[in-house]
Amino acid sequence: MAHSTTLALVVLMALSFSAASATTVNKSCITGSAGAAVSIGYGGARASAGAGVSLGADVYRTTCPRAEEIVRAAVGRAVAADPRMAASLLRLHFHDCFVNGCDGSVLLDDKPFFIGEKTAVPNANSLRGFEVIDAIKEELERECPETVSCADLLAIAARDSVVVSGGPSWEVEVGRKDSRTASLQGANINLPAPTSGVATLVQRFRNVGLSAKDMVSLSGAHTIGKARCTSFSARLSGVGVSSGASKDQTFLQSLQQLCTASAGSALAHLDLATPATFDNQYYINLLSGDGLLPSDQALASSSAVAGADQDLVASLVATYAFDASVFFQDFAESMLRMGRLAPSVGTSGEVRRNCRVVNSSS
Ligand code: HEM
Repeated sequence: MAHSTTLALVVLMALSFSAASATTVNKSCITGSAGAAVSIGYGGARASAGAGVSLGADVYRTTCPRAEEIVRAAVGRAVAADPRMAASLLRLHFHDCFVNGCDGSVLLDDKPFFIGEKTAVPNANSLRGFEVIDAIKEELERECPETVSCADLLAIAARDSVVVSGGPSWEVEVGRKDSRTASLQGANINLPAPTSGVATLVQRFRNVGLSAKDMVSLSGAHTIGKARCTSFSARLSGVGVSSGASKDQTFLQSLQQLCTASAGSALAHLDLATPATFDNQYYINLLSGDGLLPSDQALASSSAVAGADQDLVASLVATYAFDASVFFQDFAESMLRMGRLAPSVGTSGEVRRNCRVVNSSS
């Protein structure tokens, strides 16, 4: 009881002060680039990426010193041409890492005797940005052939996409190898569905070695980008509606109109208030019932029938809505942890010349 009262108070405070808080954080932490600097205590440390590979921030310092600069400039150009591209590149890294680790498997094309991950349910007609990755990879190959892996390229591009959208920055750990295999089944099983409730979402993250907290902070990626009507249609039939929130009804009605008028082909912003800015508005939206995906709104749902995970998740939503700097710090740390998800030991890797095909067949 005491806990729910405290949570309700935090929620109320968050709703009143969050906009101001987000602005202050962004202004006070600007580092010269678009992103706010977040200091993470991994400097110089090496993280294991499994399969005998160790990750570090300085891997390309001697072998391809301009690698990060090339990726940053190309991501900047791509996002200037298509603002949604920041979201699409960020999502590619997530969909890569959740299927047998961050190994570039998501980028492999289907071939006559090879099935990749692109036709998996969460990916088909949804993932985008492959051409942008191709163009960056071509540039990297010209600069330093067979040096920068496609998996590392995705990790750097994801960070740069967050920064260019106004979010936090962090030092990307690199040194991953690209897979020679992919798993359609792994993509279908491991990636969470937008209709999932909190228990399933937490379980999906735990299955790959990430925590409930990582799940909540990384879901904040939905502060940018878009979703198709099919991804949130369950919201229109009442799933994830928080009772008593009148604004919620107006929001759902506008989504209903959008999808009906377009016969379901429309896209909606994941964060209706600040759709292209990486901020903590996603969590503020959840508190007022304006989460787009059922899985988004579920994070803020009442804990009346739920257990410890639901309470933790709901209190993290309130914390992030109240303080953007806590969200930025936790998001950067969780991105580093997700970036360390590794292929199973014994899996052989390579640096692909072309991200769409393994080297031997290119
Ligand atoms: C927690 C579980 C998650 C679920 C259930 C989920 C589900 C989805 C769905 C259904 C879409 C819309 C796809 C479409 O309609 O085409 C989407 C978009 C997106 N997701 Fe997630 N997601 C989750 C976590 C994440 C994470 C961890 C990240 C990154 C760290 C992420 C980044 C994004 C981005 C940026 C978009 C917009 C992409 C674009 O506009 O191209 N998501 N997600």
